[in-house]
Amino acid sequence: MSLMVVSMACVGFFLVQRACPHMGGQDKPFLSAWPSAVVPRGGHVTLRCHYRGGFNNFMLYKEDRIHVPIFHGRIFQESFKMSPVTPAHAGTYTCRGSHPHSPTGWSAPSNPVVIMVTGNHRKPSLLAHPGPVVKSGERVILQCWSDIMFEHFFLQTEEISKDPLCLVGQIHDGVSKANFSIGPMTPALAGTYRCYGSIPHSPYEWSASSDPLDIVITGLYEKPSLSAQPGPTVQAGENVTLSCSSRRSFYMYHLSREGEARECRLPAVPKVNGTFQADFPLGPVTHGGTYRCFGSFPEPPYVWSNSSDPLLVSVTGNPSNNWPSPTEPSSKSGNPRHLHVLIGISVVKIPFTILLFFLLHRWCSNKKNAAVMDQEPAGNRTVNREDSDEQDPQEVSYA
Ligand SMILES: *[C@@H]1O[C@H](CO)[C@@H](O)[C@H](O)[C@H]1NC(C)=O
Ligand SMILES: *[C@@H]1O[C@H](CO)[C@@H](O)[C@H](O)[C@H]1NC(C)=O
Ligand SMILES: *[C@@H]1O[C@H](CO)[C@@H](O)[C@H](O)[C@H]1NC(C)=O
Ligand SMILES: *[C@@H]1O[C@H](CO)[C@@H](O)[C@H](O)[C@H]1NC(C)=O
Repeated sequence: MSLMVVSMACVGFFLVQRACPHMGGQDKPFLSAWPSAVVPRGGHVTLRCHYRGGFNNFMLYKEDRIHVPIFHGRIFQESFKMSPVTPAHAGTYTCRGSHPHSPTGWSAPSNPVVIMVTGNHRKPSLLAHPGPVVKSGERVILQCWSDIMFEHFFLQTEEISKDPLCLVGQIHDGVSKANFSIGPMTPALAGTYRCYGSIPHSPYEWSASSDPLDIVITGLYEKPSLSAQPGPTVQAGENVTLSCSSRRSFYMYHLSREGEARECRLPAVPKVNGTFQADFPLGPVTHGGTYRCFGSFPEPPYVWSNSSDPLLVSVTGNPSNNWPSPTEPSSKSGNPRHLHVLIGISVVKIPFTILLFFLLHRWCSNKKNAAVMDQEPAGNRTVNREDSDEQDPQEVSYA
């Protein structure tokens, strides 16, 4: 795997695992950890020592007591299950298989296996730069960071057979972080990633897992087309539906809005004219945006088509909601017509007259807050009369 550059301090960390062939040589057993060498605290892991193509009696060794059987010469048959796993189980293991013809009765030591125990520190955060949707052949930076001063960071895919990647953390401004550069992007690199951190002197005792991050590759199939009903330019509050369609029998469509990390998805529905389409109802729109859609199949997951041509949805009759510039707040608050339109479409629970009175009152006294408020995206806000002193007309209009 041409995954990435591994920092010098991490070299040797996982090489021990990678160096081994799938099976041991004639005189070398093969030690494996199942289901994974990365084990949550309290979970379980089974070590198996394969020797001469089968399971044999074996002895286990742990690095911190090298060449000393950890269980006082106890002989295991086929496998050894550790459960519940504690941080003391973290470390490097080898095994020797039973070999009656050797002078000692035992084979040479197997490949080493490193057992990592997770859940020992708070989870770090994992982010994708510039984003989790990556064009085929491009690179993406997966940044793992924490306010715990981790010495090492580890990045792992869902595919447990792949070794985790390791980087030394850079400490800056009270956070430690590491940038994992992934790419050039191929379908094999797409998938779910998680990261972990470890503190100095305990490299095998990892933090809890970061939240999972899905990395998607695009550009593998031809682009679908994206259109808007009734059209790309609408009145504020008008219902808009975006339709993504293709002649190709995509299974799922994904709609993303520029500047937003999350996308929505809907199954593709076959139409009588032979196209496959999904209709994304945006509902009554209050602000514009640039949208793109992608098609995908159930297998392989995380592999999407080329992006549709971008579609700019713009909203008229409502200047304040078009991602306003924070430098001109007052020009937007002084438009009674737009206020009227907005109140008409809003789900404001306060009677209109009280609201209007309140708005007119706030209007003149609190314009300076408008710049700050305007930067927040429209959401499901409610008008709260208790904290209304902190609000301004712009914000009420989103309610
Ligand atoms: C990590 O990557 C981000 C985004 O590309 C960049 O802004 C940041 O400076 C990088 N940090 C380090 C420590 O390399
Ligand atoms: C995806 O788009 C790129 C750039 O526009 C183009 O070169 C490539 O052929 C497209 N791929 C497919 C499968 O249509
Ligand atoms: C928008 O669509 C919703 C649900 O489809 C409907 O209840 C509502 O009346 C529509 N609004 C307008 C202004 O057409
Ligand atoms: C196919 O039909 C759907 C609705 O049935 C329509 O929205 C779409 O524009 C049509 N596409 C073509 C290429 O005619």
